[in-house]
Amino acid sequence: MVEKITVVGAGNVGATTAQRLAEKELARQVVMVDVVDGVPQGKALDQWESAPIEGFDARVIGTNDYAASAGSAIVVVTAGIARKPGMSRDDLLNTNAGIVKQVSEQIKATSPNAIVIMVSNPLDVMAYVALKVTGFPRQRVIGMAGVLDTARYRAFLADALDVSVRDIQAMVLGGHGDTMVPLISYTSVSGIPVTQLLDRAKLDAIVDRTRTGGAEIVKYLKTGSAYYAPSSAAVQMCEAIVLDQKRVLPCAAWLDGEYGMSGLFLGVPCKLGRRGIEQILQVELTGDERAALAKSADAVREPMKVVGL
Ligand code: APR
Repeated sequence: MVEKITVVGAGNVGATTAQRLAEKELARQVVMVDVVDGVPQGKALDQWESAPIEGFDARVIGTNDYAASAGSAIVVVTAGIARKPGMSRDDLLNTNAGIVKQVSEQIKATSPNAIVIMVSNPLDVMAYVALKVTGFPRQRVIGMAGVLDTARYRAFLADALDVSVRDIQAMVLGGHGDTMVPLISYTSVSGIPVTQLLDRAKLDAIVDRTRTGGAEIVKYLKTGSAYYAPSSAAVQMCEAIVLDQKRVLPCAAWLDGEYGMSGLFLGVPCKLGRRGIEQILQVELTGDERAALAKSADAVREPMKVVGL
């Protein structure tokens, strides 16, 4: 357990993340910060009132002031707005970049030793904004995407094979978007290569569904996007850090030569422990996978130019 974890943004993803962190008692205090007066306070009080029933002692606090979050070991950033009708992708990008810039300045001022887990979208670019604005070393700015995308992929595979989700090992790399790269060559069921259990057409359909997994949920919800699985993913990353588990999880990391690329956030296998990203694992990729990763990198570089940092 650490003393304090802060979640910025008390919306669907942020509030669910705070509740899960508290239930797992990963911090003595879980602080939710939001710009809207009353929302973080009300949600935090509601969550704290669930503590006697759920049986956790982590204190959940809601506030509009970063002073309460000072000295956090981890800050999970979920602040942002969803795309509104008539808004271009670039408008959304600039609005959320402005929000993440302001949030990052506050993190730098109040929690200078924190590990930042970026959740706000577009993920890879928002992680870049946080890295630039905080000036933190790259080990301490991590994007949450791969754990979520991999969870979706594993859930779909478990359905198709009618086996436990626990027995499916897999890795989705690349950017958090249509160009993500589910690695079929590293997908197994208790060590059995998935290609021995599912034919190529079924696997390709699952890969496609994974790539559009976020959109599938938005289509159902109509007015919002996914938050149960995204918050689970962010909390699994927090847990790996707090408990120094050295878990190998796909995370968006700032590349500096790994996979032959530099100067961008991209989903790659990372070892997560108390110091944040303790290692980026470089695995062998097939020619197709390498090409897909390069295409994904191009898709991330393009919007990076728009925010102009
Ligand atoms: N500082 C703090 N909080 C802010 C700021 C800011 N500058 N600007 C906006 N917020 C808050 C909003 O008040 C709102 O409570 O961010 C919250 C966003 O919540 P939702 O609209 O419910 O969005 P959510 O579904 O939680 O998604 C948040 O995570 O998965 C990503 O794509 C998703 O970028 C989105 C983010």
